[in-house]
Amino acid sequence: MLTDLLPNQNTCSHSTAINGENPISNEQEHFHNELNGKVNDIVATLPKGKGWRGPEIFLHKGFWLPQTAIKSLLMIHEYFHPKPTDIFLAAFMKCGTTWLRALMFATANRHRYKISDHPLHHTGPHGVFPSLDAQIFLECPVSKFDNLPSPRLFATHFAHNLLPTSMTSPSSTCKFVYVCRDPKDALISKWHFMSKIRSKELPPISFNEAYELFCNGISEYGPFWDHVLGYWKASQESPEKILFLKYEDMKREPSVEMKKLAAFMGMPFTAQEEEAGVVEEIVKLCSFENLSNFAVNKDGVQKFRAPVVVENRNFFRKGNVGDWENYLTEEMRDRIDSITETRLKGSGLALGLMHKA
Ligand code: A3P
Repeated sequence: MLTDLLPNQNTCSHSTAINGENPISNEQEHFHNELNGKVNDIVATLPKGKGWRGPEIFLHKGFWLPQTAIKSLLMIHEYFHPKPTDIFLAAFMKCGTTWLRALMFATANRHRYKISDHPLHHTGPHGVFPSLDAQIFLECPVSKFDNLPSPRLFATHFAHNLLPTSMTSPSSTCKFVYVCRDPKDALISKWHFMSKIRSKELPPISFNEAYELFCNGISEYGPFWDHVLGYWKASQESPEKILFLKYEDMKREPSVEMKKLAAFMGMPFTAQEEEAGVVEEIVKLCSFENLSNFAVNKDGVQKFRAPVVVENRNFFRKGNVGDWENYLTEEMRDRIDSITETRLKGSGLALGLMHKA
């Protein structure tokens, strides 16, 4: 079953658009061929590293990206027109975007749907909340994003300084929610996920190899620390524009973080809503236990840029804090923690050093 876009909601209006089943027109083919030429020229000049899903990734303006992501980025720069009310969910891979998608969608649409008959029951978080990085691929050159109701919600894995200033400049009023996580847990989660979606023609990546690559910053959308720091610094400079959340805080006090999130989105929960338990209802709807048990999240698939098709079940693994303890030796843990400490020093941000407390 493919997750469909919902008509007349915070999604693209064409149900076949997100799943990539639209036949490609001559105009689109010509457009893609031209763009592919440009991307090939760019990539030919860039340092190469080992890809976790495909064979290689490229160091583009300080971040490691697959060739297809470089193409998306060019498309975002050329064709995406942010609206002042847009809200972007940004994160390094495997830091909690599936969860945040569900929470943000449910919050933004809480007056539209009953919890008992909510689109999340049959659509899945990726179906209701498009990935800008993947969706731009399917929509260009004729963007259908304009048909989305406000506020439009988009997810992105791109680093802050890679995105167009029309989105990131403090003078633009669109907002970002950034979610980050202990890098040790992000590494474990990413290794599992990428191993599942890794091209079958390539040999698997062992955990030790993934660990080395991660510590050296070489993984899709990384280095992890630069990604986090870019959004952290921007959130310090413009707190009204970027809300910086941690997965661990969300797990510990979901209702507290949810209230922050709703207020930041410009849709604070009223006293009546709080009394009526709306916050807790949304938290429950979007909990790992609940979401991961919906049939769509057990059997559905999500199409990204061809040839990437991901089974929805792969977005739900354990949903715990501290699973790294089952994988890392003390030495491995100390190395990542020391990179984190060094890289974040003086920034005012602390991440994943709980075991030292
Ligand atoms: P684990 O692999 O540690 O279990 P992303 O959504 O950004 O791809 O991140 C995936 C991580 O978030 C996975 O972590 C996944 O299990 C976890 N996750 C997915 N849905 C969740 C939810 N509703 N609540 C908490 N964690 C969730």
